[in-house]
Amino acid sequence: MEILGSIDKEACSTWLEINLDNLRYNIRKLETLTQKPVMLVVKANSYGLGLVDISKAAEQAGVAWLGVARIEEALALRVAGVKCNILVLGYTPAKRTYDAILADIALTVYDREVGEAYCTEAKAAHGKIRIQVKTDTGMGRLGFFPSEVADFLRWAKAQRQLKVEALITHFACADDPQKPSTKAQIEEFNQLLKELEAEGLKPGLIHASNSSGTLNFPEARYDLTRCGISAFGIQPSPTTPIPDEFKPVIEWKTHLISVKTLPSGHGVSYGFSYYTKKQERIGVIAIGYADGFRRREGNYALVCGKKVPVVGNVCMDQCMVNLDTVPEAKIGDEVVLIGKQNGAAIKVEDLAQDWGTISYEVICGLADRIPRLFIDSSTTNGKASK
Ligand SMILES: Cc1ncc(COP(=O)(O)O)c(C=O)c1O
Repeated sequence: MEILGSIDKEACSTWLEINLDNLRYNIRKLETLTQKPVMLVVKANSYGLGLVDISKAAEQAGVAWLGVARIEEALALRVAGVKCNILVLGYTPAKRTYDAILADIALTVYDREVGEAYCTEAKAAHGKIRIQVKTDTGMGRLGFFPSEVADFLRWAKAQRQLKVEALITHFACADDPQKPSTKAQIEEFNQLLKELEAEGLKPGLIHASNSSGTLNFPEARYDLTRCGISAFGIQPSPTTPIPDEFKPVIEWKTHLISVKTLPSGHGVSYGFSYYTKKQERIGVIAIGYADGFRRREGNYALVCGKKVPVVGNVCMDQCMVNLDTVPEAKIGDEVVLIGKQNGAAIKVEDLAQDWGTISYEVICGLADRIPRLFIDSSTTNGKASK
């Protein structure tokens, strides 16, 4: 990753402003609210915000753990010098056991075959692998059925090559507190914990809740919370708001790169899905569908503190906006796709709703080619990557 050294928006066609101060603030708020340590979930390039920079800021904020989806992400963090506990939440091929041992990374075991394969590989490597056992209390994804857990733990605890450090589960519908299924999952998990405790099999660390579980079901915070989206200042769903004091972490901006007056009846962009209705001031902004902006009707952007409509089809690297309500707009002006400008705002949640998807998909879809500029008062200038 190339470090540019200081934020220089003028040098970028489009950029993400990632506020690491706000990230650290949100993490501390989560810890205060829950009175539990946080595992910050940084999978998928920290939901598109930047794996290493987000993780290092979280480490500075004192998070207990980082959660990733894949071993490659965990190894990249170690190479970058991240020291804190790391758990791979998803599948890790057994052939990666040695790497995980060397890098001191914990792996999720969700099935006997996977656990046995890690054990065999660890034996061959003369090492011991840290594992967290996952039970499926209702999600219908990865995990032992609760009825299988005791047997597996009995076996695993007898293996010198395995260090069982946690029992974990995951909720399917915690973002909708009206649905009864989360309560049922919690009950199932608690019953299992009781039985394991009675048999002396309960691991020392228990965790279950993502952001929604953490916010909606305080009884399911157990020993730590596994939060991603809320720490990034975004509500997990329309039915799960985050506390008002949480701060946004991400803004997406670009520039006006052309301003022209087109005569009435002039086509705009590929396919002419839009024709000017009268003489119109049409601006071009330097983002397109290749940046993660959806090719659909009804998009908008902030120019001179006002919401202006995107007109015509979104192109790969550009799209057009109607500037009739902002006659003062000129080439070089900053344009906001996510964030605030004067009194106006566009939130990730707004885009998710307009695009018929979830906030997670909006930010994970922000293209790699967009430079991430980090606002970080713990360094002098902030910094930019890529
Ligand atoms: C197993 C697991 N735990 C926790 C999280 C964090 O979820 P959220 O970003 O909703 O806090 C995820 C993310 O998808 C996950 O897969």
